[in-house]
Amino acid sequence: MADLDGQKVSKDYHTEVPFSNQNGFFLRGCNSLDWGMKKHMSNIFNPKSGNTVMFAFDHGYFMGSTAGLERLDLLLPKLAPYVDCFMGTRGAIRTCVPPEVTKSVALRVTSGSSMLQEDLSHEVVAVNIEDAIRMNADCMAVQTFIGADGQLSSLENLNQVINAGMRYSIPTMGVCAVGKDMARTDRFFKLATRIIAEMGVQVVKTYDCENFEEVVAACPVPIVVAGGKKLPEDEALKMAYGVMQKGAHGVDMGRNIFQSQHPIEMAMAVGKIVHEGFTDKEALEFFKDAIHQG
Ligand code: R5P
Repeated sequence: MADLDGQKVSKDYHTEVPFSNQNGFFLRGCNSLDWGMKKHMSNIFNPKSGNTVMFAFDHGYFMGSTAGLERLDLLLPKLAPYVDCFMGTRGAIRTCVPPEVTKSVALRVTSGSSMLQEDLSHEVVAVNIEDAIRMNADCMAVQTFIGADGQLSSLENLNQVINAGMRYSIPTMGVCAVGKDMARTDRFFKLATRIIAEMGVQVVKTYDCENFEEVVAACPVPIVVAGGKKLPEDEALKMAYGVMQKGAHGVDMGRNIFQSQHPIEMAMAVGKIVHEGFTDKEALEFFKDAIHQG
């Protein structure tokens, strides 16, 4: 058993020093990937800004019909022009995203839990690599529970998907799940994001937290940040601006877009922060003007 008691709590994050092994490619940690992987990553992350607005609508995979996502067939085509990537299940994407929409796809490939259970940390790999290839997925999203009951099986799932992805040059996105007993501390997120990155994923999805810049600095692949529970728009934009300032490569936002009274305008405002360097205040003004102009 490793001696954890004496483990040094490192403070040498060098948050002011840019990621160094980046020669020749615009995304951290992707320099040594092959052409196919880089192509998928460039579909997800805009090579000009280096960032992405991922729209997460995979909530139905464990929550069923969620407020704001009742009619994916109506919402998704309207949002398409304002986001870079659609993150959803194969069921939702096949049925409700017209194939003519050329946005990148983050395909959720694990499932196994539902809101009816108390412990959501046990999942399986539900989508095989052949179907991910058929769907032209740009990455495969795997729910990963560190420090929860399901840790071993979720790391098994994660590695199974990474191994398949490496065979066919499809990136894997490790989704850092917060188990019911875990606190959303920077200590937890530093541990979880780093473990997920060291398994070999190409993207990590996580949450905002205190000292988020240190979480980013210690994670050698791009991080996208989930929006979390619905907040007033000004607070959601502030969160998005904050994480971008601290080194995130974008957001993977769901409820703060689809539960807004104005989802299209909200997606546009988030895009202004992620791609154009707007501050949260500028993005809020933009959001209000866009609503006004109808
Ligand atoms: C994560 O596991 C969920 O399925 C969502 O994709 C994620 O939480 C992002 O959505 P939201 O911004 O609503 O938190």
